[in-house]
Amino acid sequence: MGHESGSVPLPPAASADTGQLHPTFLGEGADLAGFRAAARRLAGDGVPPERVIWSIGEAPGLFGTEAATRAESAPPLALPRGVADLIGMVVPHRDPERYALLYALIWRILRGERRLLEVSSDPLVHRLERMRKTIARDLHKMHAFLRFRRTEESGVERFVAWFEPDHHILAAAAPFFVGRFRSLNWTILTPEASAHWDTAHLTFGPPGRREDAPSSDGFEAGWRDYYESTFNPARTNLTAMRAEMPKKYWRNMPETAAIPGLVRAAATRTQTMIEREPQKPIKRNPARAVAAMADQAPDSLEALNAIIKRSEPLVPGATQAVLGEGSPGATIAFVGEQPGDQEDRQGRPFVGPAGQLLSRALEEAGIVRADSYLTNAVKHFKFEERGKRRIHQKPTAGEVSHYRWWLERELDFVAPKLVVALGATAVLALTGKAIPITRARGPASFGKAYDGFITVHPSYLLRLPDEAKADAYAAFVADLRRVGDLAQALRA
Ligand code: URA
Repeated sequence: MGHESGSVPLPPAASADTGQLHPTFLGEGADLAGFRAAARRLAGDGVPPERVIWSIGEAPGLFGTEAATRAESAPPLALPRGVADLIGMVVPHRDPERYALLYALIWRILRGERRLLEVSSDPLVHRLERMRKTIARDLHKMHAFLRFRRTEESGVERFVAWFEPDHHILAAAAPFFVGRFRSLNWTILTPEASAHWDTAHLTFGPPGRREDAPSSDGFEAGWRDYYESTFNPARTNLTAMRAEMPKKYWRNMPETAAIPGLVRAAATRTQTMIEREPQKPIKRNPARAVAAMADQAPDSLEALNAIIKRSEPLVPGATQAVLGEGSPGATIAFVGEQPGDQEDRQGRPFVGPAGQLLSRALEEAGIVRADSYLTNAVKHFKFEERGKRRIHQKPTAGEVSHYRWWLERELDFVAPKLVVALGATAVLALTGKAIPITRARGPASFGKAYDGFITVHPSYLLRLPDEAKADAYAAFVADLRRVGDLAQALRA
C-alpha cells in the first residue's frame, strides 16, 4: 500500500516566486474523470508540471474543484497507445503523488518523448509501471477473495460482500463482478465506497461498514466442504499461502475458517498419504461416467472427438486425450491399448517406441500407415510415477469398458472394412471378453459390420528377450501381410 518507493525526478516543488501556480483539486479516491479534465486543461494551457499543485479532497476555496470546471474542459490530448491504460491503472493507487507523476509523464510525451513508455529504465516510467503492477495485484485479490453472502429483504434476494482493498479500486473492480453475476442483485461494501448492481445498472454509493454485510449464510458450509476436499496437506506452504491469500482477507472467506485446522492436521494427513502411496489414485465411477456420456449423441467424428477432448481421464494424470488418427473411410483401422508416455506428450497415437515398431512392420507388410486409421481402446495415458519416469500401467477391465462407448462410436464414424485388434486390451474393448491372443490370433468376428483380425501388440515384441524377438517380429509382419490381403479382398 502507499508509495512505491524509488526516487523519481518529480518537478521541483513550485514556489510562489517562480511564476504562477495552478492549484488543482481532485476528488477523493480514484478521480479519473477529474484528472483527465485537469490534464487536458493544464496541458492545453501549456502549464508545466512544476507549476501544478495537486490537492485531493480538499476544500476548493478560491479555485473551485476540477470536477466543477470539468464541463468547460479542453479537447482530449493526443497520447500514444498504452498511456490511457496506464493512467486508468495508476489513478486508483493510494500514493498522493500519483497525479503529479502522471501529469509529468503526459507533459514529457507531449513535448516530444512519444516513446517514453517503452523506456522502462526511465525512473518515472519505472515507478509508474510498479504502481500499475500493484494495482493489478490488488484487483486480482479482490476478484479472487471477495465472497458474497445472501440476504433477503421483503422477498428480494441480494448478495452482499464486505471487502477492504489496499487501493481505490472499487470502480475498476466492479465490472468483473457484473460479468460474473449479471443476473443477481449484489452490493459490494468497502470502507471508502459501495457498488450496487441491480441486474441492469451499476451505481456507486457511500462507504459501508463490515457489520452491514452478513458474516455467514447458508452457502458457508458448502464453501468449507469444497475447500477441505481440495486441500492437499502435502502441499502446505504457509508462506506461499499467505503471499497469495493475505491473512487480512481470510476473515471474509468462509473456506478459510477451515485453514488453521487443516494446517494443524497436515503433517498427520501427509503421513497417511505416504503410507497409502502404493495404492492407485482415486478412480471415478465408470458406470456413472458411461451413463453421463450416453446422454450425448455426437453426430460426427469431430463432435465425438470434442467430447473426448473435454472429458477427464478416468485415472488422473494424463496430459491430454489422444484421439484416433487417419482418414475416415480408411479400409483398415488398428486398435491399440492406450497412449504411452510419448503419445500423451505429443497428443498422437503410436508415435513412441511401440508405434515406431508398428510403422516399420506395416511398411514391410506393404500397408501404408497414412492410409489406415489408428486408435486406442483407452484414450488417456495411465501411469505410475517413479522418480522422473512415468511407467505405463495396464488399464483395468472397468476402465476399458468405460472407454468402449467412445471406441464403438469412433469406429461407426470411420466405418473401416477391417478392424485389427493389437493385443488383449483391444480384444477386450472390441468383444467385451478377455480372450488370450495365442488362442484367438488371426481373422475374427467382433459382431459388427466390419471384419476383424487379432494379433499381438507391438510393445509385446519390445518386451521379449532378444533371442525371441526376430521370430516374433516375423510372425507379426506375416499377420500384417494377411491383414493387407484381407483388406485388398474387402476393397474389391
Ligand atoms: N501403445 C498403444 O497401444 N497405443 C499407442 O498409441 C502407443 C502405444
